[in-house]
Amino acid sequence: MKACILMGSPRKTGNTAALLEPFREELEHRGTETETVWLYDREIRPCVACRSCQRDWTIFGCPQRDDGQALFDLVLGSELVVLATPIYAWYCTPPMKALLDRLVYGMNKYYGEAKGPALWAGKAMALLMTCGYPAEKGCDLFEEGMRRYCRHSRLRYLGAHVERHLGYGTVFMDGEKEDRARLFAWEVMKRI
Ligand SMILES: Cc1cc2nc3c(=O)[nH]c(=O)nc-3n(C[C@H](O)[C@H](O)[C@H](O)COP(=O)(O)O)c2cc1C
Repeated sequence: MKACILMGSPRKTGNTAALLEPFREELEHRGTETETVWLYDREIRPCVACRSCQRDWTIFGCPQRDDGQALFDLVLGSELVVLATPIYAWYCTPPMKALLDRLVYGMNKYYGEAKGPALWAGKAMALLMTCGYPAEKGCDLFEEGMRRYCRHSRLRYLGAHVERHLGYGTVFMDGEKEDRARLFAWEVMKRI
């Protein structure tokens, strides 16, 4: 099985990266091939609502010449999509939001004259998040947004794991967080 991990943190040695590592290791350990993409390193322009992607139901069809097509191909070639992100202003970070917008149109051919297919129907999605507020106040809106996104896109929402960051003067990672990240990977594998 292949999992693509879309990494939304700008910080290569930040909290989300630290939480992702044991999660990713555990997926690999249990036989899942993973590919991690650092979205801040890619060019992902925002959707401009031209709706060119709705003309041909067999392709991405976005006329923007950036990394959108490569990311579309990666997602389509994976059974599991993991969104790993710190919470910024109650949602994911900007490159992830730009990609989610491009994919909700490019994958779901719902927005033309007639309703077409969801090209990624049946794929699984899981969320790994870090935030400063307690989870129920920091990540709840993004999680709910992604639940609806999955339902709309005919994706299978497998669940979310969140860890809280108590401030930039504190050490984020510890053994318990590592264990919980590994356990979440195990749960994702069971639900898939
Ligand atoms: C610009 C910015 C906005 C943030 N907004 C929120 C927020 O709305 N809610 C929250 O709980 N934490 C918020 N945080 C805190 C981060 O989500 C938290 O520190 C996270 O662990 C950072 O992950 P990283 O080390 O991968 O960057 C924000 C941090 C930044 C830099």
